[in-house]
Amino acid sequence: MEAQEESGSVDLKATRSLMDTFIPPLEYHYDTFTLRAYRPGDGAALQHTVNASYEHLRQWMIWAKPNQSLEESEAICRRFAGQYHLNQGFTLGIWRGDALVGGTGYHLPKQGLEHGNAEIGMWIAAHEAGRGLGTRTLRALLDWGFSEWPWQRLFWRCDTRNLASAHTAQKAGMIREGTFRSDGIHVDGTRRDTHLFARLRTEYTPQPPH
Ligand SMILES: CC(C)(COP(=O)(O)OP(=O)(O)OC[C@H]1O[C@@H](n2cnc3c(N)ncnc32)[C@H](O)[C@@H]1OP(=O)(O)O)[C@@H](O)C(=O)NCCC(=O)NCCS
Repeated sequence: MEAQEESGSVDLKATRSLMDTFIPPLEYHYDTFTLRAYRPGDGAALQHTVNASYEHLRQWMIWAKPNQSLEESEAICRRFAGQYHLNQGFTLGIWRGDALVGGTGYHLPKQGLEHGNAEIGMWIAAHEAGRGLGTRTLRALLDWGFSEWPWQRLFWRCDTRNLASAHTAQKAGMIREGTFRSDGIHVDGTRRDTHLFARLRTEYTPQPPH
């Protein structure tokens, strides 16, 4: 990453080698919550929160289902943990103590880690939604992502009808770059338009709250 900042160009081979050995940070403490990688044993918390939030999530999250079992939830947490340590994707829980209040993460596009691009995804537990947690979580991900992580570009995509998601991106300081027409499929099977928001390392000054 230093080589890129100094010269303005990227030695992809050198960067790839660096990324083979990249050790991702595991947690980040923000104001009232902690972002942290999932661990074996987190399944019960995930099961509790996604099941309690099903009606809130089902409109936008393709993976939401009414009664997720403990076994499924534990397997999901273990898969997330494995991917994290293999640098294949960085899914994070949003925690208040032992309570899971949402999920987020830096997700890799097909290009891979060496390109410095990641998509931020997010869901907030039903009982916490609409109270500012999504915006603060996204700010935390930008602050952390441009300080302790090697990201050069962080982006956010949402269905144009998902007003809460689009407002969250804008409030957290992401810039809308455009709208792709009919480029995705909504959970109900209809085609959807997608807003693209992004923020670049070169234009961002991390401002952690503490
Ligand atoms: C989208 C989501 C992550 C936002 O998190 P949140 O904690 O609810 O959002 P915040 O409370 O920080 O609110 C951010 C902005 O969105 C607005 N907002 C929240 N819910 C809204 C809704 N249902 N309709 C319109 N605007 C809404 C808020 O008012 C606020 O904007 P404002 O201060 O200008 O009024 C959350 O609502 C969620 O989990 N939704 C279901 C899953 C999802 O859609 N994930 C995103 C996929 S791209």
